[in-house]
Amino acid sequence: MTAVPLAAFRAELESLHAEAATALAAASDAAALEAARVAFVGARAGRLKAIQKLLGGLAGADKPEAGRHFNDTKAAIASLLAAAQARIAAGAGGPEAGGIDVTLPGDPVPQGHFHPLTQTIRRVQEIMARLGFESVDGPEVEDQWHNFEALAIPAEHPARDPLDNFYLAVAREADPLLLRSQTSTVQIRVMEKRDPPLRIVSLGRVYRPDTADATHYPMFHQVEGLLVEPGTTMAHLKSVLRLFASSFLGGDVHVRFRPSFFPFTEPSVEVDMEWGGRWVEMGGAGMVDPAVLEAVGYDPDQVSGFAFGLGVERIAARRYGVADIRDFYRNDVRFLRQF
Ligand code: FA5
Repeated sequence: MTAVPLAAFRAELESLHAEAATALAAASDAAALEAARVAFVGARAGRLKAIQKLLGGLAGADKPEAGRHFNDTKAAIASLLAAAQARIAAGAGGPEAGGIDVTLPGDPVPQGHFHPLTQTIRRVQEIMARLGFESVDGPEVEDQWHNFEALAIPAEHPARDPLDNFYLAVAREADPLLLRSQTSTVQIRVMEKRDPPLRIVSLGRVYRPDTADATHYPMFHQVEGLLVEPGTTMAHLKSVLRLFASSFLGGDVHVRFRPSFFPFTEPSVEVDMEWGGRWVEMGGAGMVDPAVLEAVGYDPDQVSGFAFGLGVERIAARRYGVADIRDFYRNDVRFLRQF
Protein backbone atom coordinates (compact mmCIF):
# COMPACT_ATOMS: atom_id res chain seq x y z
CA MET A 1 0.00 0.00 0.00
CA THR A 2 1.48 3.35 -1.05
CA ALA A 3 1.43 6.15 1.53
CA VAL A 4 -0.57 9.33 0.90
CA PRO A 5 1.95 11.98 -0.25
CA LEU A 6 2.41 14.82 2.25
CA ALA A 7 2.09 17.42 -0.54
CA ALA A 8 -1.30 16.04 -1.59
CA PHE A 9 -2.49 16.09 2.03
CA ARG A 10 -1.42 19.72 2.41
CA ALA A 11 -3.11 20.70 -0.85
CA GLU A 12 -6.37 19.18 0.45
CA LEU A 13 -6.14 21.20 3.65
CA GLU A 14 -5.40 24.43 1.80
CA SER A 15 -8.27 24.13 -0.62
CA LEU A 16 -10.61 23.23 2.23
CA HIS A 17 -9.47 26.32 4.13
CA ALA A 18 -10.02 28.60 1.11
CA GLU A 19 -13.47 27.18 0.29
CA ALA A 20 -14.60 27.36 3.90
CA ALA A 21 -13.50 31.00 4.13
CA THR A 22 -15.52 31.88 1.01
CA ALA A 23 -18.63 29.98 2.11
CA LEU A 24 -18.64 31.39 5.65
CA ALA A 25 -18.20 34.96 4.42
CA ALA A 26 -21.09 34.53 1.98
CA ALA A 27 -23.51 33.07 4.53
CA SER A 28 -26.13 35.78 5.07
CA ASP A 29 -28.37 34.10 7.61
CA ALA A 30 -28.24 31.49 10.35
CA ALA A 31 -29.52 28.67 8.09
CA ALA A 32 -26.84 29.26 5.44
CA LEU A 33 -24.19 29.43 8.13
CA GLU A 34 -25.34 26.13 9.64
CA ALA A 35 -25.27 24.45 6.22
CA ALA A 36 -21.68 25.65 5.71
CA ARG A 37 -20.67 24.48 9.16
CA VAL A 38 -22.06 20.97 8.56
CA ALA A 39 -20.42 20.73 5.13
CA PHE A 40 -16.95 21.78 6.28
CA VAL A 41 -16.53 20.86 9.92
CA GLY A 42 -19.55 18.61 10.65
CA ALA A 43 -18.54 15.80 13.03
CA ARG A 44 -19.85 12.99 10.83
CA ALA A 45 -19.83 13.93 7.15
CA GLY A 46 -17.81 17.17 7.20
CA ARG A 47 -14.93 17.58 4.78
CA LEU A 48 -12.45 18.21 7.56
CA LYS A 49 -13.40 14.83 9.02
CA ALA A 50 -12.67 13.16 5.66
CA ILE A 51 -9.24 14.76 5.53
CA GLN A 52 -8.56 13.67 9.11
CA LYS A 53 -9.08 10.07 7.98
CA LEU A 54 -6.29 10.49 5.44
CA LEU A 55 -3.84 11.19 8.27
CA GLY A 56 -3.60 7.50 9.03
CA GLY A 57 -2.40 6.77 5.47
CA LEU A 58 0.58 9.12 5.64
CA ALA A 59 4.13 7.85 6.03
CA GLY A 60 5.14 7.77 9.69
CA ALA A 61 7.79 10.47 9.23
CA ASP A 62 5.27 12.87 7.66
CA LYS A 63 2.68 12.49 10.38
CA PRO A 64 3.88 15.10 12.92
CA GLU A 65 4.01 17.88 10.34
CA ALA A 66 0.74 16.80 8.70
CA GLY A 67 -0.92 16.73 12.14
CA ARG A 68 0.25 20.24 12.94
CA HIS A 69 -1.04 21.55 9.62
CA PHE A 70 -4.34 19.78 10.17
CA ASN A 71 -4.76 21.34 13.63
CA ASP A 72 -3.85 24.82 12.39
CA THR A 73 -6.43 24.57 9.59
CA LYS A 74 -9.09 23.30 11.97
CA ALA A 75 -8.46 26.23 14.36
CA ALA A 76 -8.49 28.76 11.52
CA ILE A 77 -11.87 27.52 10.25
CA ALA A 78 -13.27 27.54 13.81
CA SER A 79 -12.38 31.20 14.20
CA LEU A 80 -13.87 32.08 10.78
CA LEU A 81 -17.03 30.29 11.87
CA ALA A 82 -17.16 32.20 15.17
CA ALA A 83 -16.72 35.52 13.36
CA ALA A 84 -19.53 34.69 10.91
CA GLN A 85 -21.82 33.66 13.79
CA ALA A 86 -21.17 36.95 15.57
CA ARG A 87 -21.85 38.92 12.39
CA ILE A 88 -25.21 37.21 11.81
CA ALA A 89 -26.22 37.38 15.47
CA ALA A 90 -25.66 41.15 15.34
CA GLY A 91 -28.22 41.29 12.53
CA ALA A 92 -25.71 42.48 10.01
CA GLY A 93 -25.72 40.34 6.92
CA GLY A 94 -23.73 43.10 5.24
CA PRO A 95 -25.48 45.97 3.45
CA GLU A 96 -25.76 43.95 0.22
CA ALA A 97 -27.58 41.22 2.07
CA GLY A 98 -30.14 43.70 3.43
CA GLY A 99 -28.49 44.06 6.85
CA ILE A 100 -27.79 47.21 8.82
CA ASP A 101 -25.41 49.75 7.34
CA VAL A 102 -23.93 51.29 10.44
CA THR A 103 -22.63 54.26 8.45
CA LEU A 104 -26.17 55.54 7.67
CA PRO A 105 -27.71 58.24 9.91
CA GLY A 106 -30.09 56.82 12.56
CA ASP A 107 -33.89 57.09 12.62
CA PRO A 108 -34.88 59.84 15.04
CA VAL A 109 -37.17 58.60 17.86
CA PRO A 110 -40.02 61.12 18.23
CA GLN A 111 -39.97 62.86 21.61
CA GLY A 112 -43.30 63.14 23.40
CA HIS A 113 -44.23 65.59 26.14
CA PHE A 114 -46.53 65.79 29.12
CA HIS A 115 -50.27 66.29 28.67
CA PRO A 116 -51.24 69.98 29.02
CA LEU A 117 -53.14 69.20 32.24
CA THR A 118 -50.07 67.48 33.72
CA GLN A 119 -47.96 70.47 32.68
CA THR A 120 -50.52 72.73 34.36
CA ILE A 121 -50.47 70.69 37.58
CA ARG A 122 -46.67 70.79 37.75
CA ARG A 123 -46.57 74.50 37.05
CA VAL A 124 -49.15 75.22 39.78
CA GLN A 125 -47.12 73.10 42.23
CA GLU A 126 -43.96 75.06 41.34
CA ILE A 127 -45.58 78.45 41.82
CA MET A 128 -47.22 77.46 45.08
CA ALA A 129 -43.94 75.95 46.34
CA ARG A 130 -42.32 79.36 45.88
CA LEU A 131 -45.03 80.78 48.14
CA GLY A 132 -44.19 78.13 50.74
CA PHE A 133 -47.02 75.64 50.00
CA GLU A 134 -46.06 71.97 50.21
CA SER A 135 -47.73 69.56 47.72
CA VAL A 136 -49.69 66.71 49.30
CA ASP A 137 -52.01 63.98 47.98
CA GLY A 138 -55.25 62.46 49.19
CA PRO A 139 -57.36 59.42 48.22
CA GLU A 140 -59.91 59.61 45.39
CA VAL A 141 -62.27 57.16 47.13
CA GLU A 142 -63.54 58.97 50.21
CA ASP A 143 -65.83 58.47 53.18
CA GLN A 144 -68.70 60.68 54.37
CA TRP A 145 -66.59 62.30 57.09
CA HIS A 146 -63.86 63.70 54.85
CA ASN A 147 -66.02 64.59 51.84
CA PHE A 148 -68.92 66.10 53.83
CA GLU A 149 -69.26 65.89 57.64
CA ALA A 150 -65.97 67.45 58.68
CA LEU A 151 -66.58 70.16 56.06
CA ALA A 152 -69.85 71.08 57.81
CA ILE A 153 -72.02 69.56 55.08
CA PRO A 154 -74.74 67.74 57.11
CA ALA A 155 -76.69 64.64 56.07
CA GLU A 156 -79.69 66.54 54.70
CA HIS A 157 -77.57 68.94 52.63
CA PRO A 158 -78.35 68.84 48.88
CA ALA A 159 -74.61 68.48 48.07
CA ARG A 160 -74.90 64.89 49.38
CA ASP A 161 -77.71 63.95 46.99
CA PRO A 162 -77.06 60.59 45.28
CA LEU A 163 -77.84 62.27 41.96
CA ASP A 164 -74.98 64.73 42.49
CA ASN A 165 -72.33 62.22 43.54
CA PHE A 166 -70.74 58.97 42.45
CA TYR A 167 -71.52 56.73 45.43
CA LEU A 168 -69.91 53.31 45.24
CA ALA A 169 -72.20 50.28 45.09
CA VAL A 170 -69.81 48.27 47.28
CA ALA A 171 -70.03 50.88 50.00
CA ARG A 172 -71.12 50.16 53.55
CA GLU A 173 -74.77 51.04 54.16
CA ALA A 174 -74.18 53.40 57.09
CA ASP A 175 -71.12 55.17 55.67
CA PRO A 176 -71.24 54.89 51.88
CA LEU A 177 -67.97 55.55 50.13
CA LEU A 178 -67.89 57.81 47.10
CA LEU A 179 -65.53 59.18 44.48
CA ARG A 180 -64.59 62.50 46.08
CA SER A 181 -66.49 65.46 44.68
CA GLN A 182 -63.92 68.04 45.78
CA THR A 183 -60.30 68.22 46.94
CA SER A 184 -61.37 70.00 50.14
CA THR A 185 -61.24 66.47 51.62
CA VAL A 186 -57.45 66.87 51.72
CA GLN A 187 -57.75 69.91 54.01
CA ILE A 188 -59.35 67.66 56.62
CA ARG A 189 -56.92 64.76 56.11
CA VAL A 190 -53.90 67.03 56.59
CA MET A 191 -55.30 68.97 59.56
CA GLU A 192 -56.19 65.69 61.31
CA LYS A 193 -52.56 64.58 61.10
CA ARG A 194 -50.62 67.79 61.63
CA ASP A 195 -50.60 70.83 63.84
CA PRO A 196 -50.54 74.41 62.57
CA PRO A 197 -48.82 76.32 61.04
CA LEU A 198 -49.75 74.70 57.72
CA ARG A 199 -49.31 75.65 54.09
CA ILE A 200 -50.35 72.90 51.71
CA VAL A 201 -51.55 72.56 48.15
CA SER A 202 -53.19 69.44 46.70
CA LEU A 203 -53.92 68.77 43.04
CA GLY A 204 -55.96 65.80 41.97
CA ARG A 205 -59.00 64.27 40.30
CA VAL A 206 -62.55 64.82 41.50
CA TYR A 207 -65.82 63.38 40.18
CA ARG A 208 -69.34 64.73 39.71
CA PRO A 209 -72.19 63.48 37.52
CA ASP A 210 -72.20 66.77 35.56
CA THR A 211 -73.15 66.85 31.90
CA ALA A 212 -70.08 67.56 29.80
CA ASP A 213 -69.98 70.97 28.12
CA ALA A 214 -67.35 73.59 27.30
CA THR A 215 -66.62 74.25 31.01
CA HIS A 216 -67.74 70.98 32.68
CA TYR A 217 -66.60 67.39 32.64
CA PRO A 218 -67.70 64.51 34.93
CA MET A 219 -64.10 63.91 35.96
CA PHE A 220 -61.95 66.96 36.42
CA HIS A 221 -59.08 68.27 38.56
CA GLN A 222 -58.97 70.76 41.37
CA VAL A 223 -56.16 72.61 43.05
CA GLU A 224 -56.82 72.98 46.75
CA GLY A 225 -54.85 75.43 48.85
CA LEU A 226 -54.88 75.67 52.64
CA LEU A 227 -53.02 77.99 54.98
CA VAL A 228 -53.52 77.92 58.75
CA GLU A 229 -51.46 80.27 60.89
CA PRO A 230 -52.18 82.66 63.75
CA GLY A 231 -53.49 85.97 62.46
CA THR A 232 -54.45 84.89 58.93
CA THR A 233 -56.95 87.21 57.24
CA MET A 234 -58.93 87.55 54.02
CA ALA A 235 -56.23 89.99 52.82
CA HIS A 236 -53.69 87.12 52.85
CA LEU A 237 -56.07 84.95 50.82
CA LYS A 238 -56.58 87.64 48.19
CA SER A 239 -52.84 88.37 47.95
CA VAL A 240 -51.94 84.69 47.48
CA LEU A 241 -54.61 84.18 44.81
CA ARG A 242 -53.60 87.33 42.93
CA LEU A 243 -49.91 86.35 43.10
CA PHE A 244 -50.78 82.87 41.88
CA ALA A 245 -52.95 84.19 39.03
CA SER A 246 -50.35 86.64 37.77
CA SER A 247 -47.54 84.04 37.97
CA PHE A 248 -49.60 81.44 36.17
CA LEU A 249 -51.49 83.56 33.65
CA GLY A 250 -49.37 86.69 33.32
CA GLY A 251 -49.31 90.06 35.00
CA ASP A 252 -52.25 91.41 32.99
CA VAL A 253 -54.82 88.97 34.40
CA HIS A 254 -57.74 90.47 36.31
CA VAL A 255 -59.08 88.64 39.36
CA ARG A 256 -62.46 89.32 40.94
CA PHE A 257 -63.86 88.11 44.28
CA ARG A 258 -67.65 87.78 44.62
CA PRO A 259 -69.43 87.08 47.91
CA SER A 260 -70.63 83.48 47.97
CA PHE A 261 -71.38 80.58 50.29
CA PHE A 262 -69.59 77.34 51.17
CA PRO A 263 -70.51 75.41 54.33
CA PHE A 264 -66.84 75.13 55.35
CA THR A 265 -65.70 78.74 54.87
CA GLU A 266 -66.94 81.97 56.43
CA PRO A 267 -66.87 84.41 54.75
CA SER A 268 -66.84 82.71 51.34
CA VAL A 269 -66.05 84.08 47.90
CA GLU A 270 -66.24 82.99 44.31
CA VAL A 271 -62.99 83.63 42.40
CA ASP A 272 -63.42 84.83 38.80
CA MET A 273 -60.81 85.66 36.21
CA GLU A 274 -61.27 87.76 33.13
CA TRP A 275 -60.93 85.99 29.84
CA GLY A 276 -61.55 87.57 26.45
CA GLY A 277 -63.67 90.32 27.96
CA ARG A 278 -65.71 87.77 29.96
CA TRP A 279 -65.49 86.82 33.63
CA VAL A 280 -65.12 83.07 34.12
CA GLU A 281 -65.54 81.36 37.52
CA MET A 282 -62.28 79.63 38.42
CA GLY A 283 -63.13 78.43 41.90
CA GLY A 284 -64.26 79.06 45.44
CA ALA A 285 -62.42 80.29 48.52
CA GLY A 286 -62.84 81.72 51.97
CA MET A 287 -61.72 81.77 55.58
CA VAL A 288 -61.80 78.29 57.12
CA ASP A 289 -64.98 78.10 59.23
CA PRO A 290 -64.22 77.85 62.99
CA ALA A 291 -66.49 74.77 63.09
CA VAL A 292 -64.10 73.02 60.68
CA LEU A 293 -61.06 73.97 62.77
CA GLU A 294 -62.84 72.54 65.82
CA ALA A 295 -63.78 69.33 63.96
CA VAL A 296 -60.08 68.57 63.46
CA GLY A 297 -59.13 69.56 67.02
CA TYR A 298 -57.68 73.03 66.36
CA ASP A 299 -58.49 75.99 68.60
CA PRO A 300 -60.20 78.72 66.50
CA ASP A 301 -59.15 81.28 69.11
CA GLN A 302 -55.49 80.49 68.45
CA VAL A 303 -55.33 80.05 64.67
CA SER A 304 -57.24 81.10 61.60
CA GLY A 305 -56.84 80.02 58.02
CA PHE A 306 -57.92 80.40 54.46
CA ALA A 307 -58.67 77.82 51.78
CA PHE A 308 -59.35 77.87 48.08
CA GLY A 309 -60.29 75.36 45.39
CA LEU A 310 -59.84 76.11 41.70
CA GLY A 311 -60.73 74.09 38.61
CA VAL A 312 -57.52 72.95 36.90
CA GLU A 313 -59.19 72.50 33.48
CA ARG A 314 -60.54 76.04 33.68
CA ILE A 315 -57.22 77.69 34.53
CA ALA A 316 -55.46 75.53 31.91
CA ALA A 317 -58.04 76.56 29.30
CA ARG A 318 -57.56 80.21 30.25
CA ARG A 319 -53.77 79.88 30.03
CA TYR A 320 -53.62 78.04 26.72
CA GLY A 321 -56.55 79.79 25.06
CA VAL A 322 -58.60 76.59 24.79
CA ALA A 323 -62.31 77.30 24.27
CA ASP A 324 -63.68 73.89 25.30
CA ILE A 325 -62.24 71.80 28.17
CA ARG A 326 -63.53 68.60 26.51
CA ASP A 327 -60.63 68.98 24.07
CA PHE A 328 -58.26 68.03 26.90
CA TYR A 329 -59.88 64.58 27.00
CA ARG A 330 -60.42 63.81 23.32
CA ASN A 331 -56.90 62.41 22.98
CA ASP A 332 -56.43 63.97 19.56
CA VAL A 333 -52.65 64.21 19.16
CA ARG A 334 -53.02 67.09 16.68
CA PHE A 335 -54.56 69.08 19.54
CA LEU A 336 -52.20 67.83 22.26
CA ARG A 337 -49.06 68.42 20.18
CA GLN A 338 -49.59 72.18 20.36
CA PHE A 339 -48.64 72.44 24.03
C1 FA5 B 1 -65.69 73.52 45.43
O1 FA5 B 1 -65.54 72.40 44.96
C2 FA5 B 1 -65.09 73.91 46.73
N1 FA5 B 1 -64.50 72.74 47.35
C3 FA5 B 1 -64.08 75.01 46.50
C4 FA5 B 1 -63.58 75.62 47.77
C5 FA5 B 1 -62.39 75.18 48.32
C6 FA5 B 1 -64.30 76.62 48.42
C7 FA5 B 1 -61.91 75.72 49.49
C8 FA5 B 1 -63.85 77.19 49.59
C9 FA5 B 1 -62.66 76.73 50.11
P1 FA5 B 1 -67.08 74.39 43.39
O2 FA5 B 1 -68.11 73.31 43.43
O3 FA5 B 1 -67.55 75.75 43.04
O4 FA5 B 1 -66.34 74.53 44.78
O5 FA5 B 1 -65.96 73.96 42.38
C10 FA5 B 1 -64.74 74.69 42.28
C11 FA5 B 1 -64.30 74.82 40.84
O6 FA5 B 1 -64.18 73.56 40.23
C12 FA5 B 1 -65.28 75.56 39.94
O7 FA5 B 1 -65.16 76.94 40.09
C13 FA5 B 1 -64.81 75.11 38.58
O8 FA5 B 1 -63.64 75.83 38.18
C14 FA5 B 1 -64.41 73.69 38.85
N2 FA5 B 1 -65.48 72.78 38.44
C15 FA5 B 1 -66.62 72.47 39.10
N3 FA5 B 1 -67.33 71.55 38.44
C16 FA5 B 1 -66.62 71.25 37.33
C17 FA5 B 1 -66.80 70.35 36.23
N4 FA5 B 1 -67.84 69.53 36.15
N5 FA5 B 1 -65.85 70.33 35.25
C18 FA5 B 1 -64.77 71.12 35.33
N6 FA5 B 1 -64.53 71.97 36.33
C19 FA5 B 1 -65.44 72.04 37.33
